[in-house]
This record gives sequence, C-alpha cells and structure tokens, in this order.
Amino acid sequence: MNPAIYLALDFPDWFKANAFLTENELAGIPVKVGMELFYREGPALIEKLQKNNHSIFLDLKLHDIPTTVKRAMRSLAQLEVDLVNVHALGGGDMIQAAKEGLLLGNPSGSTKLLAVTILTSMDQKTMKREVKLTGDLPDNVIHFAKLSKQNGADGVVCSVHEANLVKKACGSSFLTVTPGIRLTNSQDNDQKRIATPTTAKNHGVDSIVVGRTITQATHPRQAYEQIKGEWEDGKA
Ligand code: C5P
Repeated sequence: MNPAIYLALDFPDWFKANAFLTENELAGIPVKVGMELFYREGPALIEKLQKNNHSIFLDLKLHDIPTTVKRAMRSLAQLEVDLVNVHALGGGDMIQAAKEGLLLGNPSGSTKLLAVTILTSMDQKTMKREVKLTGDLPDNVIHFAKLSKQNGADGVVCSVHEANLVKKACGSSFLTVTPGIRLTNSQDNDQKRIATPTTAKNHGVDSIVVGRTITQATHPRQAYEQIKGEWEDGKA
C-alpha cells in the first residue's frame, strides 16, 4: 500500500462532502468514509468517489459474531475499496471470518483488512476503569496487533505512539494506520493519543487519517498542504 493521508470525510451527506472537496480543490485525494456518511448515502457514495479518482478507506469498524461479519465483509468487498476494518476486540475468530468474507467477495485481495486496536480517543485510565483491560495500554495494542496478524489482518489502526512497537512485534510489512493526527497548534477535540504528522512519519507509520484538523480549519486547503509537507518531509 502506498503511504497516504486519508482525509476523514466526516460530513452528514454527499452534498456537503462533495462541496468541501470541490471548494478546497481536494479532488482525487485519498479519503476515509465513516459511519456518518456511509449510513446516509450507502454504497452509491463509494462509486461516486471512485469515479472522481479517490482511493478509499471504508471505516465501518465491524464488531459482531463471526458469521455476520463474514457475510458483511463479503458484501463490502464488492465495493473494491483500499481498506476496511473491524474491532480487534471482536476476537480472533471474528477477524479470520472478516478476512474470509473479504476474499469471497473479491478474490483479488486488493482490499486490505485492518483491525482497530484501542481507539485513539481512549486513554489508559478509561481502558482500565471502564473496559477492564489489565496491563498497560501499549501492551494491549501489541496484543491486539499480534492477534490480528495471526488471524489474517493486513494491519491495524493504532496511535502513532504504538506504531514502532507494532512494527517490531508484527514485522515491517504489517500496516499501521493512525488517526489522532494534530498540528502543533490545533485542538485535541475528543482524541487522547494524538501526534503530529512529523512524529507519525518518524515513527514509521504507513498512512495517517486526518479529519477535523483539516475540515474545521479556517483555511482547509492550507492545513492539508501543511500536513502533506510535514508528512512527506518527516520534519516540521
Ligand atoms: O477529526 P479527527 O482527525 O480526530 O478524525 C478522526 C477520524 O478517524 C474519525 O473519522 C474517527 O472515526 C476515525 N478513527 C479514530 N480512531 C480510530 C479509528 C478511526 O479516530 N481508532
């Protein structure tokens, strides 16, 4: 997979998403489509974006019994996006079922499967108190990364801070895709484990996901260019 900056298209509908892309001259850049937009627009949205040459990370974070996830993935595979994902917390059998479903729907294997380890909106305190996971947060991320690899995932979604450890544990070709990207002067919002594009690059991340730092910037195109510059140079 080529390194990419996926713009999180967190908009309520196609009209608003398309207007944002057009007004800011972001036609054809890689995009991440999440639940908000996909639940409103459905698979037709993916075709529209593909017609406009966008490569797509379809971020629906499936988490259900293995049979349901397998069937859902078989269906999603026909959209031929770059990346789809599940929650690793669904367990090894579910991750394996997701991969099987993907290959049934599109035997070329062109759609890669990622597993979300621990959401970047969660910190260690919440993980321990509410989710009741024992051990440190990075150890849990590594555990989920290994489990995902053993069960056929092509990579994980984690924070920049764990990317090095994931590569060490799972090998350099195992993909790391990291949200929680912020410029030095931008707001954290609900994200906890954040980092700059420069840090992401220096930690060996394969691709980054950026949403509000671009979509809520006063000058979105300028914010995109700054992120791209940092990401490509690995220095601020
Ligand atoms: O606006 P921001 O850059 O925080 O956007 C993050 C995007 O990445 C959101 O669309 C969110 O759903 C997604 N995401 C995430 N954490 C994950 C996986 C995806 O924040 N572990």
